[in-house]
Amino acid sequence: MAYAAYIFDAYGTLFDVHSAVRRHAEAVGPDGQLLSEIWRAKQLEYSWTRALMGQWRDFWALTEDALDYSFERIPSADKSLKPQLLEAYFKLDCYPEVPAVLKGLKAGGARVGILSNGSEKMLDSAVRNAALDTVIDDVFSVDELKTFKTDPAVYDMVTTAYRLYPGAVSFQSSNRWDIAGATKFGFRTLWINRARMPDEYRDLSPSMILPDLNGVD
Ligand code: LAC
Repeated sequence: MAYAAYIFDAYGTLFDVHSAVRRHAEAVGPDGQLLSEIWRAKQLEYSWTRALMGQWRDFWALTEDALDYSFERIPSADKSLKPQLLEAYFKLDCYPEVPAVLKGLKAGGARVGILSNGSEKMLDSAVRNAALDTVIDDVFSVDELKTFKTDPAVYDMVTTAYRLYPGAVSFQSSNRWDIAGATKFGFRTLWINRARMPDEYRDLSPSMILPDLNGVD
């Protein structure tokens, strides 16, 4: 089935958030995976709490705050690695199938975009680093709204910009909570369950579940 626009979540969906710690795995030491998981969990928690309380800071600042907290939780990891880890997060790897899948959708005539909590600067850097700038038509960042997903206003950026009904947009995210928000908004949703997580938000189910982006159409 063809949709007018295919919109992708960025972090965890196109870009591997754990590739930053992995790139410095040896220096970070044995608790690297735990550090990376706490880093991601706290970054997301800060986005939800700050959206709710109306105390916005951009996602890059939250990424830094979350890394500071993670170092406190994991004393075995050397805090002096902070600049290297942030630099790696600014230039995350994309998952291997991403370029071909996006190119295929674009070749089929659809608009291809990103809708992300990420700041404009960090998204621009990630897109360029992964050489996706020629494939991605539009990057929608929450920066202009100063809120975060799952505020419906975030999903509405796409339909307003493209003058489309939500049902004409196919939205892909590896984050089940993001899929819940996008489903509530009315997008067609594909949950990219990369981490093989159990389902949740059962009243807000995706149209389809895929293990990676292969098969998005
Ligand atoms: C994003 C985060 C939530 O890219 O993964 O919006």
